[in-house]
Amino acid sequence: MAVEHGSERFGAPVTVALTGASGAQYGLRLIEALVAAEREVWVMISKAAHLVIATETDGDLPARPERLAEALTERAGAAPGQIRCFGREDWMAPVASGSGASSAMVICPCSTGTLSAVACGASNNLIERAADVALKERRQLILVPRETPLSAIHLEHMLNLTRLGAVVMPAAPGFYHRPASVEDLIDFIVARILNQLGIEHRLMPRWGE
Ligand SMILES: Cc1cc2nc3c(=O)[nH]c(=O)nc-3n(C[C@H](O)[C@H](O)[C@H](O)COP(=O)(O)O)c2cc1C
Repeated sequence: MAVEHGSERFGAPVTVALTGASGAQYGLRLIEALVAAEREVWVMISKAAHLVIATETDGDLPARPERLAEALTERAGAAPGQIRCFGREDWMAPVASGSGASSAMVICPCSTGTLSAVACGASNNLIERAADVALKERRQLILVPRETPLSAIHLEHMLNLTRLGAVVMPAAPGFYHRPASVEDLIDFIVARILNQLGIEHRLMPRWGE
């Protein structure tokens, strides 16, 4: 099945980056939810995130982008070509330039290291560069940090990024929906991200529904 990027079939691609904070399941579930919502998904996974995935889930994922795309396609039940993956220094990837077609970027989970690099515009790897591009192009950038407690450095970076127009959504699930499983807690955060992206979902009802 052919996939045209930004086609009516899949809409504009959403970029998802997993970095080395705890909570890899949030990012993996987000990819699944975007696939289910028939969005094209562009994925980057940092070296530390691979380590976290191996630690926190039942299986590790291949590092090479082509093999990673195959593995994620199978895992998320995506159509061929619906998920594309890019490597750490793939500077020719569409996310590396403002002319690339990604509509929004989510860093989930976001390590404090990547939070800091994005706040400073470091652009030392493709994840950091893609976030820098999202900021300069005034595109939607969502960061989902997970750390506790937070230092003044972390808080200052979050404040600066929020002032720049990014949305900082700490991975802090609520309990008012009476979660019965870890999956419920994961879906709480993923549902909030999808709400921010304006993507319909059935992961959990909105407040008041
Ligand atoms: C199992 C594991 C759990 C970690 N948990 C966190 C965390 O919750 N938050 C965080 O900011 N860093 C955490 N780290 C540390 C980051 O992975 C580390 O700072 C790394 O350099 C981040 O690199 P990246 O931003 O390129 O992914 C963890 C590391 C490992 C191996």
